[in-house]
Amino acid sequence: MKRNAFITFEGIDGSGKTTQMELLKQKMLTYNIPNLFIRDPGTTAIGEKIRGLLLAPESGEMSLTAEVFLYAAARSQMVYEVINPALEQNIIVVCDRFIHSTLAYQGYGSGYDLETINFINREAMGSIWPDLTFIMDIEVEESFHRCLQKELNGNSKDRIEQRNFEFYNKVRKGYLALAKEDEKNVVVLPSGITVEEAHQKIWRKINERLDLGL
Ligand code: TMP
Repeated sequence: MKRNAFITFEGIDGSGKTTQMELLKQKMLTYNIPNLFIRDPGTTAIGEKIRGLLLAPESGEMSLTAEVFLYAAARSQMVYEVINPALEQNIIVVCDRFIHSTLAYQGYGSGYDLETINFINREAMGSIWPDLTFIMDIEVEESFHRCLQKELNGNSKDRIEQRNFEFYNKVRKGYLALAKEDEKNVVVLPSGITVEEAHQKIWRKINERLDLGL
């Protein structure tokens, strides 16, 4: 059995990442699997400050380069302060978003050069790269519908979420392209399946990859 792993969840806003991460956490608790659930950008004190800068609507128009570097800086701190030490202790680390978000949002969505994103992030992440990535796929229309519901419930949109339909369509297609490039490590959960079906698929994949025998 492989004792540690770095797993990431990705998807456009409202795709159901949070629900799946919660179900996974419950499952890991049930089986006493040492785990750590974190979010990118964020988790560390520095990362949460950077998250504030990146997402605050008051930050206004930000240069795309500044955006890419800020995400990478937050990520770097998290790798250094949290991810590496946890993996060394054989803890399974599960992260809400990571490098694939920058490739999908700043790369495919906003047009920043993908190779440059990879280069900057290789510097930021050192030897870390997700062992497994789950992409929660969702139609952009459905994502907008769910985000609207959230707004009606009093959650206002962050700076990134204020972008338009065309942008999110590019991000979604970007995610699917990234999955195609790395089918062994990047798994797409299609929008048509139920929450439970997606959970089973995710759990099977983790079991298989980590040889958990559960
Ligand atoms: P979330 O953590 O609530 O999903 O919000 C984070 C927002 O930041 C979300 O709109 C996606 C965006 N984002 C990027 O644009 N690039 C990145 O590299 C990451 C990690 C997030």
